[in-house]
Amino acid sequence: MKALVLSGGSGTRLRPFSYSMPKQLIPIANKPVLEYVLESIRDAGITDIGIVVGDWASAIDEAIGDGSRLGVRVTYIRQDEPRGLGHCVAIARDFLGDDDFVMYLGDNFLPDGILRSTEEFTARRPAAQVLVYKVADPRQFGIVELDQHGNVRGLVEKPEQPVSDLAVVGVYFFTSAIHDAVDAIPPSARGELEITDAIQWLLTNGAEVRAIEYQGYWKDTGRTEDVLECNRHQLGALRSANLGDVDDASELVGQVVIGPGARVLRSRIEGPVVVGANTVVEASNIGPYTAIGENCLVRTTNLGDSIVLDGASISDVPGLRGSLIGRSATIRSRATGRRMVVGDDAWIELAA
Ligand code: G1P
Repeated sequence: MKALVLSGGSGTRLRPFSYSMPKQLIPIANKPVLEYVLESIRDAGITDIGIVVGDWASAIDEAIGDGSRLGVRVTYIRQDEPRGLGHCVAIARDFLGDDDFVMYLGDNFLPDGILRSTEEFTARRPAAQVLVYKVADPRQFGIVELDQHGNVRGLVEKPEQPVSDLAVVGVYFFTSAIHDAVDAIPPSARGELEITDAIQWLLTNGAEVRAIEYQGYWKDTGRTEDVLECNRHQLGALRSANLGDVDDASELVGQVVIGPGARVLRSRIEGPVVVGANTVVEASNIGPYTAIGENCLVRTTNLGDSIVLDGASISDVPGLRGSLIGRSATIRSRATGRRMVVGDDAWIELAA
């Protein structure tokens, strides 16, 4: 069995971050979403992985390489433009051959893994197996409709009037039957080859399509709020470790990880918190639920429920919460007036 990971796409909902990095490399508890994806596939016993990449090919290659660090073997497949999930299957035809495969969207966060789902698929080998999850707002997702026996009747992509609250998780299992389906369907109204249409085609042509309710934690990290929620979830599973320097005037409470070369001076850190390598935290209150990347500086600041990416610097900011701070960003307070140098689609909220 093989895996196909989709890591193209433009990530419009994650602007401004997606202007300068692929959304699949946004860190959750200081580890890129894409690494969780590859580990979850590996832990299901699949090591032959194709990654479909677009304009961010080199950034993804730089982070993941040939996959050997993670115990997998990666083949990159270049997509010229985002032309739909079905198109990704079509261009991966040579890599996939006639093997069964799992297709995994590179921005989907499933820290509990897919081992059981993979076993369920291999035991029965339906033409397609989708995982579903009850959601509050089904209009944002692909939705499945089941009959009274739990069989899939149909799939609809982001319907205005959803017929169920069962969202399609971004992890799909297929036999080679999917290739005929992808070849047969026309592009949708938005000009893309939709995987939901291909699965619908299988159903219409009498193939078996199974839906299994996913039992673990699932989130599509499409928006800032989702990324912060995944961060809270993942930090909750943290085990303390101190590989840096914490001075006697500092206090660490709860689960706190201090990376190698990091320094904590005259500060209070309330876990769960992770502080990346070579970061300096000085005279600050950090936490809970905060991940600070590598080579950051946080000084006389009160920071909680946030993610700070590598190289950022935050000084003299009294109450920063629910924030996502980009790489090498600088935030500091000023005695008089306010000054901002803000990029496109940035989002700033100031207390009155
Ligand atoms: C895609 C799929 C959708 C699925 C979702 C899960 O949507 O098209 O059917 O429910 O992933 O993450 P996207 O997030 O690309 O808009």
